[in-house]
Amino acid sequence: MARTNQLDTLSQVGPGTKIGALFRSVWLPGLLSAQLPRPGCAPVRLKLLGEELVAFRNGKGELGVVQANCAHRLAPLFYGRVEDSGIRCAYHGWLYDKTGQCLEMQNEPDKSVCAKVKIKAYKAVEKADIVWVYMGEGEPPALPKFPWMGLPKSQRNATVWIQESSWLQGMEGELDSSHVSILHTNPATMATSPVHQQYSATDLSPKLYARNTPIGILAIARRNAEQSFYWRVSQFMVPAFSSIPSANFPVGGRAYVPIDDYNAYTWDFNYYTKGDLPQAFLDYVGKGLAFPPESTYQSYKLNTGSIIDTYVPVRTAENNYLIDREGQSLSSPTGIHGLNDQDRAMQEGMQSVQDSQGRIVDRNKEFLVAADIAIVRARRRLLEIVKDDASLAEFQRTIKDGTAYAVKPLDVVSEFGELDDFVTEHAEQLSPQREFA
Ligand code: FES
Ligand SMILES: [Fe+2]
Repeated sequence: MARTNQLDTLSQVGPGTKIGALFRSVWLPGLLSAQLPRPGCAPVRLKLLGEELVAFRNGKGELGVVQANCAHRLAPLFYGRVEDSGIRCAYHGWLYDKTGQCLEMQNEPDKSVCAKVKIKAYKAVEKADIVWVYMGEGEPPALPKFPWMGLPKSQRNATVWIQESSWLQGMEGELDSSHVSILHTNPATMATSPVHQQYSATDLSPKLYARNTPIGILAIARRNAEQSFYWRVSQFMVPAFSSIPSANFPVGGRAYVPIDDYNAYTWDFNYYTKGDLPQAFLDYVGKGLAFPPESTYQSYKLNTGSIIDTYVPVRTAENNYLIDREGQSLSSPTGIHGLNDQDRAMQEGMQSVQDSQGRIVDRNKEFLVAADIAIVRARRRLLEIVKDDASLAEFQRTIKDGTAYAVKPLDVVSEFGELDDFVTEHAEQLSPQREFA
């Protein structure tokens, strides 16, 4: 197992950190296009990888993602006016374009001065109704070719909300297959659940395996299914993307994008290749029973003092996730409303290291068992990739054309009981899919 100080570095995402450099190698989902609905609309405060930013859509409809504060006397640009060519600071009228270049200084008679002022700005592109942000230097890679990226709007759904813990606690939950049978089981609805979900509920201690892929790991769970086996394969794609099987509904995945060391944006992506997302799915999602949780869009002050504009869950640690103790005994083990509410209750409340403002789990104190094999492997994989410049450069080459992310989740009932046989039989489905590449 990796040493404690190495594990601590996995939560550190600011400029100059190893994990920060990894996240700066990829396009990150920054905000929903719907958060900037019109040219010239109100800007959005965004925090990514410890950096305070403001995103805007200028009067011509072009996107800008720039540092949150004006170069002059550091006033917040969020209160500025969005104009055709950029965002104008409300204090003394300095105007910045989408590249961060200052175009005008209303309080400075020497018109040549503004050419010398440029604030930090990051590349931003829009795809699949998401604004993607690249925070690295130099030429970015291609956008990740997730299977849903090119689908029509009616066949995909992306949502985002805040998780008040290190990004890694959320990400590790994606690889924790054994909790699905316990935390998320609701005996009251079991009789009507799809057969696959019933296998998950009846075999609480699945056999778990982890296999490396070029950009992450396969987390594989095998459960008993009468005469055969129910195999469930999740993929972890470095730095923070997952592909999660869902027997019940359209398939998808998630991303845990660090806001800073102590907070993350959770993204959920669902899609249906055969047609429009089924109404039953949309109804279920609308109740906050799965992903996303029931949330409100608002300005939100982080524990680190920054204010961001995002979706904030209704059920949080402050209100005990609205736990229903009676419901806990009758219907579900938790008595907490939705799947993500249940996950956050566990992940946001993990015992933390002392200097982490209560948001980074103390991994030194964990007692890991066989069920945690995928989590251990994912941590090791991250540490391998950020080990030195050469390994990070190799990762950057692997993701350069985006095809490494063109993977689909897999869950299937199979006669094969041995891992090698199962992986060989499904090798094609477990690799990047040519149709999306
Ligand atoms: S602080 Fe922005 S123009 Fe002066
Ligand atoms: Fe979960």
